[in-house]
Amino acid sequence: MRITAAASLILTSALLLASAAPCFAAKGKVGLALPTQNDTRWYYEGPKMKQALEQAGYDAVLFYGGDNDLSIQQRQLPRMVEKEKVNILAVVPIEGDKLADALSQVQKKGVPVISLDRLITKSKAVSYYLGFDNREIGRQQGLAIVDALNLHTAYEPVNVEFFAGDENDNSARYFFAGAQEVLSQYMNTGLVNTPSNQLFFKECAIKDWTAENAMKRMDQLIEKYHYTPDGKGRKLDAVYCANDTLAQGVLQALRKAGFKDDQLPFITGMDAELSALQRIVKGTQGSTIYKDPNTLCAQLVKMVDAVLSGKTPEINDEKTYNNGFGAVKSYLCEPVAITKDNLKEAIVDKGVFSAKDLGL
Ligand code: BGC
Repeated sequence: MRITAAASLILTSALLLASAAPCFAAKGKVGLALPTQNDTRWYYEGPKMKQALEQAGYDAVLFYGGDNDLSIQQRQLPRMVEKEKVNILAVVPIEGDKLADALSQVQKKGVPVISLDRLITKSKAVSYYLGFDNREIGRQQGLAIVDALNLHTAYEPVNVEFFAGDENDNSARYFFAGAQEVLSQYMNTGLVNTPSNQLFFKECAIKDWTAENAMKRMDQLIEKYHYTPDGKGRKLDAVYCANDTLAQGVLQALRKAGFKDDQLPFITGMDAELSALQRIVKGTQGSTIYKDPNTLCAQLVKMVDAVLSGKTPEINDEKTYNNGFGAVKSYLCEPVAITKDNLKEAIVDKGVFSAKDLGL
């Protein structure tokens, strides 16, 4: 198609007018501070949250705390207020109890703080908590073990080891407590045993939630407590893993020790990572927990909308998340437990991943 000089002039003027047209001012600027990109969940959810906020009319900036580097996050938060001029901060803390100084600077500038997914403690600067019901997640993980090992009707004692999340992540305590709450009745009667006797949260906590650290601990347990795949040593019936990354590490250790697919214990997880869902299909991981990122993003937008317009956001829990200065007003989203029994309905039919992605 030939464009005449006149038409070209009209087109250029139209383009100039379009670019000079006033842009709508953003409703405000939101700062997102996440712990690391080297974790599947945060890698995907950071940009997703940013996009949801932008679509809702906000400017948003997303910062990661290096790779779980506390000192970076501590410096980052006040800088997001001073340099980036954010109007509100949503923070997933690396160490929940070590942000008090950084956040007091934020508070002085009148910037509200949402503690996102993990509770920030020992700080008065936190306005709200938004995440999933972490204790319920732990209960669902425990229940998955109860069901898989038929603990309601079983009488043969079973062996279960526990892998909790990072010691400095408050949520990890809630997951662990929820699982123990469900399993304790079977532990008390001796139906569930933990041969390592490592049952305190601190003993089971895996630094930085990494697969490598989980693998190393499982290597040690295998060696010390003689877990074998063939019945010559001790049998291992289930491993409580607080998330899919830990499950992956535990699985690696078991494989190294010679466990074949049909000799593996029932392993729990969380986050419904694609690789974990594929393992569930193959039968090498027992369960996971789906924490719908769309639900979290939608609630984040709603909370930001309310706080920045001076309204009280929707709250559904006012007692569980005590940060040392009282219970923080919270909105807890509902987790969904996934096993091979509901994977198709809860993941494929909902469009999270396709049957092909999962190898179904
Ligand atoms: C989150 C999990 C995540 C873990 C490791 C926890 O605080 O709730 O979803 O797997 O951190 O990043």
